[in-house]
Amino acid sequence: MKNKYKVAVIGCGSIANAHLEGYSKLSKIEIKAVVDTNRAAREMYMKEYQILNGYENLESMLSEMNPDIVSICVWHKLHDVMTEKIANYPSVKGIICEKPMAIGLGNAEKMIEVCKKNNVKLIISHQRRFTPGWMKAKDVIQSGLIGVPIRGEIRVKDGLLNWGTHSIDGVRFVLGEPEAQWVFGALERSTNKFERDTAIEDCCMGLVQFEDNLQFFIQSDLLDNNCDAGRFTIIGTNGMIYIEETKIRLFNDSSNGWKNIKLDLDKDDKAIGGNTNAMQVEELIEWIEKDKESRSSARIAIKTQEIMMAIYESARKNKVIKLPLKEKNYPLELMIDEKKLHLYNKEKYDIREFLNRDNIDEDLYQNLKAQGLEHNEIMQKIHSKK
Ligand SMILES: NC(=O)c1ccc[n+]([C@@H]2O[C@H](COP(=O)([O-])OP(=O)(O)OC[C@H]3O[C@@H](n4cnc5c(N)ncnc54)[C@H](O)[C@@H]3O)[C@@H](O)[C@H]2O)c1
Repeated sequence: MKNKYKVAVIGCGSIANAHLEGYSKLSKIEIKAVVDTNRAAREMYMKEYQILNGYENLESMLSEMNPDIVSICVWHKLHDVMTEKIANYPSVKGIICEKPMAIGLGNAEKMIEVCKKNNVKLIISHQRRFTPGWMKAKDVIQSGLIGVPIRGEIRVKDGLLNWGTHSIDGVRFVLGEPEAQWVFGALERSTNKFERDTAIEDCCMGLVQFEDNLQFFIQSDLLDNNCDAGRFTIIGTNGMIYIEETKIRLFNDSSNGWKNIKLDLDKDDKAIGGNTNAMQVEELIEWIEKDKESRSSARIAIKTQEIMMAIYESARKNKVIKLPLKEKNYPLELMIDEKKLHLYNKEKYDIREFLNRDNIDEDLYQNLKAQGLEHNEIMQKIHSKK
């Protein structure tokens, strides 16, 4: 048992802030270093969190800092590569890797193997498992207030891997980690769409069958309105529950319509930013010290990874996919390589560039919208003219 755990964060972008905020709330943590290839990015957090050591590359940081815990906050394709390097470094006891766990099921499996071999505890940052809404919803469902759960409904956007991973993981969490048996999926990719350098679909949907006749249905990028990775609905034999991170509503035969359920919210617990990350770190430390597995462990997270990959594989093979999934590569990339997807527009674009409308000519945007174009089509047109 250590008095203080030495921590380093790799990748000083948007999500690193939540990790740093979480670590900085804990007395057992000493933030020793940040790593980023971009100097301005690492210096920004060094200043904000008074961190003395900044590195351009991971290897130098590992050998000079000997960290106990490392956060991986770089883009998806680097998650498995960095996990392997970090897990093989002798001082490391725990890794918190961002979602999605990896691209492809095989890479996720390798992450688990290398961590097991080195006795490193690996967490995938599905930090919403620590939100008050999701935790309370789990209790409500377990206490039988909606009867036997039979159906989950998820609507997300910005790529299945990006938001879908949180919501699929969330449904599994509140339902007590049921095992998926088969998956049926469909997708469209008629534009050359990427998210954080990973090929993604224009839209997709998946039906997932669990044990005991429980199913859930996920729609991704099919509806732009009212989507959020943090919300979903679970329907049971005797009612239903609508779940958000800081709010839940119950409908059953004694609720007299929809009823808000009181949550244990701190006064300033708006969403939770660093709080969920801090709780996640506390569980990691408990796992390291007492061998009590964290709710965000990679062993649990890989089930979500498998479901997402199975949705793509089902679309690739045009059939129901029974789990465990045999295909270890990223089925969407295989579909692209196999020329199964016809692009009406071949120009590559990344939706990260398209989320921000700050430097966009608003009149032109509205004009194209009035012509009936969707947001992505408008952004693609505007970007291709630049
Ligand atoms: N859990 C969540 O709710 C949540 C939210 C946002 C992002 N994420 C995940 O976090 C990851 C990072 O996303 P982001 O939005 O923070 O990205 P970002 O683009 O804001 O930041 C990534 C940073 O990594 C740095 N970087 C790139 N290659 C590097 C290398 N080889 N070594 C060191 N640094 C390197 C970049 O310079 C950049 O500063 C993604 O996988 C994303 O899916 C998770």
